[in-house]
Amino acid sequence: MSRRYITTPIYYVNDRPHIGHAYTTIAADVLNRYYRGDGFDTFFLTGTDEHGQKVEKAAAERGITPKAHCDEMAPRFRELWKLLDVLPSAFIRTTDPEHKDYVRSVLTKLHEKGLIVRRDFEGWYCTPDERFWTEKDLGEGTAKLCPECGRELEFIRESNYFFLLSRFTERIRSVIDSGELLILPESRRNEVLGLLNKGLIDLCISRPLKRLTWGIPLPFDPEYVSWVWFDALFNYVSGPRYLAGAETQGTWWPASVHIIGKDILTTHAVYWPAFLMAAELELPRSIIAHGWWNFSGEKMSKSIGNVVDPVALIDEYSVFGKRTAVDAFRYFLLAETAFGSDGTFSFEAFERRWTAELSNDVGNLVSRAVSLVEKLCGGSVDSLPTAELDEAIVSYRESLEQYQFHRTLETAIGIAKSANQYLQEAAPWANKGGAGEVLGRVVASIAVVASMLRPFMPASSDEIARRLGLSAAPPLRNRIESFHSIVKKGDAIFPKPVFEKKESGATGSRARPTETLDSDVACVSIDDVKKLGLRIGTIVSAEKIEGADRLLRLRVDIGTEVRTLVAGIAKSYDSAALPGRNVVVVTNLKPAKIRGVESRGMILAASYDDGVSLVAPDRSLGPGSEVK
Ligand code: MSP
Repeated sequence: MSRRYITTPIYYVNDRPHIGHAYTTIAADVLNRYYRGDGFDTFFLTGTDEHGQKVEKAAAERGITPKAHCDEMAPRFRELWKLLDVLPSAFIRTTDPEHKDYVRSVLTKLHEKGLIVRRDFEGWYCTPDERFWTEKDLGEGTAKLCPECGRELEFIRESNYFFLLSRFTERIRSVIDSGELLILPESRRNEVLGLLNKGLIDLCISRPLKRLTWGIPLPFDPEYVSWVWFDALFNYVSGPRYLAGAETQGTWWPASVHIIGKDILTTHAVYWPAFLMAAELELPRSIIAHGWWNFSGEKMSKSIGNVVDPVALIDEYSVFGKRTAVDAFRYFLLAETAFGSDGTFSFEAFERRWTAELSNDVGNLVSRAVSLVEKLCGGSVDSLPTAELDEAIVSYRESLEQYQFHRTLETAIGIAKSANQYLQEAAPWANKGGAGEVLGRVVASIAVVASMLRPFMPASSDEIARRLGLSAAPPLRNRIESFHSIVKKGDAIFPKPVFEKKESGATGSRARPTETLDSDVACVSIDDVKKLGLRIGTIVSAEKIEGADRLLRLRVDIGTEVRTLVAGIAKSYDSAALPGRNVVVVTNLKPAKIRGVESRGMILAASYDDGVSLVAPDRSLGPGSEVK
């Protein structure tokens, strides 16, 4: 039987699941449901990446052991998948003893083969990203900042274990060139080939215990643990070996497709094939890298506080029915943007698509058709499939199998739109004699739409099918058979997301992090304003921060003390002209480290064109005056 093995990245448990995790996992679920519906035998693996510095640090900050932290966080991912109607075949945790044993066995094998060797080493290390950079990666200049995340690097000198990655450059290039390993989209494939052209250097795959204890100990040197990525990537092989049903364990590898985000392309498309070649294992067939979601045009980040939490979102929109909220979310994520490109999440866009495509195009079509069949045909009609529907199925399959989910959904919604138009033009209410034929065609279209939407919105497509008298949405077949439809009335399938006035605001809503709202609930009270400790300050000194052309390090006298703070005003002000100037300081802002400088407070400035203008009193005041 034909098989498909589909994977998602395994998610770090240093934080709660967010929309980015939901996106990858829903896409994998859609593929899995599609292939299963087509009669494939499938295995869909997701899980959590539990070792490494990020997790160790998150646990330390909470004052609990890493294991206790992981045991608490892993279920949040499982629960989210349940909430979002995602049905993985298995959920792997890298702290599972079977996985750890497997990784140890690979480490031993590669060490024995001489592909992992010990070397003295020095380099620039990015602690948050857990990776080393070479001078070559960093280029000229004195400031050593991580090329990936922009944070300051630390210079480290130590003995470590290296995987001889450089030996695999040509073999990796050749499997990509030949198409044996497919990397999509094309732009990502080129990116990987570009990296290979620059030449690969050997990869540090160990961390000394003095720097990290939360990892898999190297079987050949207990003073070290494995680099988290070496451990994590092997989940794809180890997972089905102990988590699949007894009859198929060990038979799933290689994966048909690894679905990943663009940020983890190098680890998957360069390191991973090399690890597999070294371990004499087959390569995955394909890797598809999707883009990133930002929020209303800004990068999502915990510090800005604009990370979209899927649990909160579903909770908020469940006033329109939980099934509808979940399915509209699944639909939106895959319809809004081409898989591979970046997308912008906004609640307006979410509600707009839900209203136009789900409530109007699909929902209205179903309710109109059902009531017309009742009224004009006594409640039942034979469906009349057309050749156009067969053609649409071909393009639906093509786009879905190339991960162009937005096109797939366009095809499905396109059928609903055409059927609405056809109904309007054929006007069966004006010609009762031909009503059976017109409505037969419309019912056939609706059945196809339900089948097409089935992998994307499983519960809603079953509900659509039930209105046509079917028990569930039938899996998509290449040709649509006719059936006798006994229609059933019901509530709107996709109620519109129109909030009652009292619910329309989002104050306190966990789902809407930083959107600007114009309704009265967005107002703050005078007590809120008083919470801001605003004072007049006098700038004592100002100097540039190396490597950051927008930032100045200021020392500001606020009456009670002289504070150091970082301000993004370097493009608009010459540092020499600032000492002595009055500014307005937010004195009780939580301290933050910016480019290595602890910033305690912020100064207020108004922005204009591409500059900023400092906010100041209209006469010179001594430092410390309260601003209210
Ligand atoms: N643990 C590693 C993966 C190991 S796989 C062997 C990891 N975990 S992660 O939790 O940080 O990220 C997992 C996935 O979420 C990545 O594919 C990443 O691209 C995706 N996303 C994280 N934020 C995202 C957005 N804002 N938008 C879309 N996806 C993003 O990396």
